[in-house]
Amino acid sequence: MTDRYAVLGHPIGHSKSPLIHSLFAQATAQDMGYTAIETPLDGFADTVTGFRAGGGRGLNVSLPFKLQAFEIATHPSERARLAGAANCLKFEGERILADNFDGVGLVNDLQRNLGCLLKDKRVLLLGAGGATRGALLPIASEQPALLAVANRTADKAHALGRDFAAHAMLQTSGYAELAGHAFDVVINATSTGLTHEPLPLPAGLFAPGALAYDMVYGKGLTAFLQQAQAAGVTRVADGVGMLVEQAAEAFLWWRGVRPDTRPVVDRLTVPLV
Ligand code: ATR
Repeated sequence: MTDRYAVLGHPIGHSKSPLIHSLFAQATAQDMGYTAIETPLDGFADTVTGFRAGGGRGLNVSLPFKLQAFEIATHPSERARLAGAANCLKFEGERILADNFDGVGLVNDLQRNLGCLLKDKRVLLLGAGGATRGALLPIASEQPALLAVANRTADKAHALGRDFAAHAMLQTSGYAELAGHAFDVVINATSTGLTHEPLPLPAGLFAPGALAYDMVYGKGLTAFLQQAQAAGVTRVADGVGMLVEQAAEAFLWWRGVRPDTRPVVDRLTVPLV
């Protein structure tokens, strides 16, 4: 019987996950179906229960349900626990396993697709919300020289630093305190990729040869990437590779097969103009 998977979100209509997973399934000859389910804001748990009752094997979870996905899990992974959020569920009998592949997807994209090794690099994450929480542990495990988190509300960055203290040494601050510091990799994990608001980035933030990365996908040159270019950065990327790489990790977790991501990244890439 065809195994069923789906992505839950609100809104979910524009999700690329059904396309990505059907391309993976074709390429690896897996007998599986994957759909997008528009989930009512107050109906996450019921939708999960209904999907499981119908024989569903696993779910991806998109905004705004990643916290609830973690809470519903009976067996969350360590990185999901630290992020306080999950983007992937797997159903095994009575057990609901949860993991968070956003961070490892980001790291795989940076290192494998973009050729940017994080070891000994100075890495800066902008924002202190769920996107940053998901990314911190996988980045820290690559042993960067420095891992910094800056947020508009500095206290939120400091709180994050305390939460992760046992796992990673973070330099946390507001934006103004970044003055005088340069970074090799600057990642926008704020929601400004969607709203097109510029960030208060001080001059000199980007080291020579730096990579500027915006986690959003398909928005062209975001305000942040434009700011980076105006500061002389020539290596800019959006989150298309992160999207495909986190999907590949989910696929591997569910099916035991690692799909080739390159053709799917190429197919989904929207030029940055
Ligand atoms: P997500 O789960 O996508 O990370 P979130 O938890 O709502 O979403 O976090 C959004 C992040 O974008 C926060 O770090 C937020 O900064 P604050 O904590 O100070 O609110 C950041 N953000 C949103 N709009 C911003 C703006 N105009 N300038 C700077 N940071 C912004």
